Amino acid sequence: MRLVDSHSHLYLEEFDADLPQVMERARAASVTHIFMPNIDSTTIASMLKVCADYPSFCYPMIGLHPTSVGENYEEELKVVAAELASPNSYVAIGEIGLDLYWDKTYVKEQQIVLDRQINWALEYDLPVVLHCREAFDYIFKVLEPYKNTALRGIFHSFTGTPEDAVRIMEYEGFLIGVNGVVTFKKSALPTVLKTIPLERLVLETDSPYLTPVPNRGKRNESANVKDVLAKVAEVYGLEKENVAEVTSQNALKVFGMLK
Ligand code: NI
Repeated sequence: MRLVDSHSHLYLEEFDADLPQVMERARAASVTHIFMPNIDSTTIASMLKVCADYPSFCYPMIGLHPTSVGENYEEELKVVAAELASPNSYVAIGEIGLDLYWDKTYVKEQQIVLDRQINWALEYDLPVVLHCREAFDYIFKVLEPYKNTALRGIFHSFTGTPEDAVRIMEYEGFLIGVNGVVTFKKSALPTVLKTIPLERLVLETDSPYLTPVPNRGKRNESANVKDVLAKVAEVYGLEKENVAEVTSQNALKVFGMLK
């Protein structure tokens, strides 16, 4: 069996003390690829270091996260642009998107920043990894003009309604990323998932956040993608091996690692 963690921030300080053990546990849990979304200019160096220390296992993305969009967004975007224009190993533009849960102050700037980065994704032929929190109506307004383009990617940490899922499905190049939220007791996600074909699904942890049951409340790590797998397999009524293979292939394909 092989598993892919399509979204994991193992380069954050939460892992400073025991990163080698975290990686070992991920490998022991059959994880073969860990994809790392960037946050902003302050996280690039540590992310690239971890990816260099674990070659052919950890893969970096570049992008400006919506919660890091503020007055200085043009400066931050310049950093992303410079990274893309230099020789690099980025496999996606991420994570990017809209977040109106934490703060609505910069909603307009968030939309500008997202649109700019979508253009770079098309220019550099890279997938996008989207973060969308309390912002589905806004994000579809930004995405609509790109509906019939080559734009592809992942709606990470999906927790939307069946209607949101339907709207995402209309974008043929897009997959839905599911994490520990699916294991939470009051989550509506298991019901919503039933409307989404397995061929459109990828698994993730979003480490160090959103730890699945039975470790909910503790720091999350990539090995726990196995607990997401177990729940998703139960929801679909399929063998774990089957769900692992299909979702891993989906992830590798969108990141350009399976032709
Ligand atoms: Ni994230």
